[in-house]
Amino acid sequence: MKIGILTGGGDCPGLNAVVRGVTKSALKKGWEVTGFKDGYRGLVENRYIKLEDRDVSGIIIRGGTILGTSNTANPFAYTLEPLSEAGSPKDLSALAVSNLKKLGIGALVAIGGDGTLNIAKKLHEMGVAVVGVPKTIDNDLSATDVTFGFDSALKVATEAVDKLHTTAESHHRVMILETMGRYAGWIALRSGIAGGGDIILIPEIPYREQDIVAAVNERRAKGKNFSIIVVSEGAKSEKGEMTVSKVVKGSPDPLRLGGVSYKIAGIIEGEIKVECRVVVLGHLQRGGEPTPFDRWLSTGFGAYAVGLIEKKQFGRMVAFKNFCCTSVTLKDAVTALRRVRPDSQEVLTALSVGTSFGNSRYKV
Ligand code: F6P
Repeated sequence: MKIGILTGGGDCPGLNAVVRGVTKSALKKGWEVTGFKDGYRGLVENRYIKLEDRDVSGIIIRGGTILGTSNTANPFAYTLEPLSEAGSPKDLSALAVSNLKKLGIGALVAIGGDGTLNIAKKLHEMGVAVVGVPKTIDNDLSATDVTFGFDSALKVATEAVDKLHTTAESHHRVMILETMGRYAGWIALRSGIAGGGDIILIPEIPYREQDIVAAVNERRAKGKNFSIIVVSEGAKSEKGEMTVSKVVKGSPDPLRLGGVSYKIAGIIEGEIKVECRVVVLGHLQRGGEPTPFDRWLSTGFGAYAVGLIEKKQFGRMVAFKNFCCTSVTLKDAVTALRRVRPDSQEVLTALSVGTSFGNSRYKV
């Protein structure tokens, strides 16, 4: 048996741990493993390496991906890099499939988020034996309780909240931390709860400007001259839109969010005599070592993916439910985004300890 493996979309801690988990489990069965470089780009352009035990030895701890990745490589709408010089996209999916056949690859493990898994689903519809593994710091895939990479991003965000606390307190300032997460507020919500944030702003609960100001004033009235706000990059007001920082042509989702924290600072400084400072955490959330949880989860995902291949259960994605690995169809995996439910226990927990979501309609 010869299997292929690739990592697609944005990187995150734990990718190497999955590559290791898949490779070691497959080699143990006497299979061969081919790693495609730079996500689906390697598949279309026939760029790959043979993975041996020594290639994956010691990589469980390393962030990023030894295979490289791409968030613009889509075999069904392929553009050459650099994107600024790229012509119109071409459907090169048949080439990708024929490359796999020529290499004698019997199954492909695609590790990625919704974009990568959507492509995996379409390749499966063309007859490729595919197994998906859910990656993303955003934790926004509905078919799994958690994706790997999220816990590591959460650790970075929570440490940032902790560090901002002391400086906010010393200077009597409002410190605003902007986290990633795209259209889901998981990183902001959980780091906000874990770090004791005073105001948490997430896309799922659109804010009201006057209610953010009221929450800061309420704290001041209690003698608390500083506030910590954790805002997800996708947060928006009840009447407003998300803040787009960049458009990346050729990417499955071309919109890049960012900058909402500056809006929030402007709103507060416009109404209250207080100094605000903004920290946009950005790609720090995607770097560095995976947490123990992510290493454990990624290793489990990798081994389980090989098990699915052995049982010929293709067109499926490894998932994590009730603290166990299981699998779901790729179709179910990409159907809906997993977003924070405003009536969830987590939101109620935050409200119970006095956290504001910048909207007075949400209260306990
Ligand atoms: O999906 C992961 C993620 O880090 C999002 O949280 C963020 O919005 C986006 O990717 C950033 O993408 P890029 O690396 O292309 O700037």
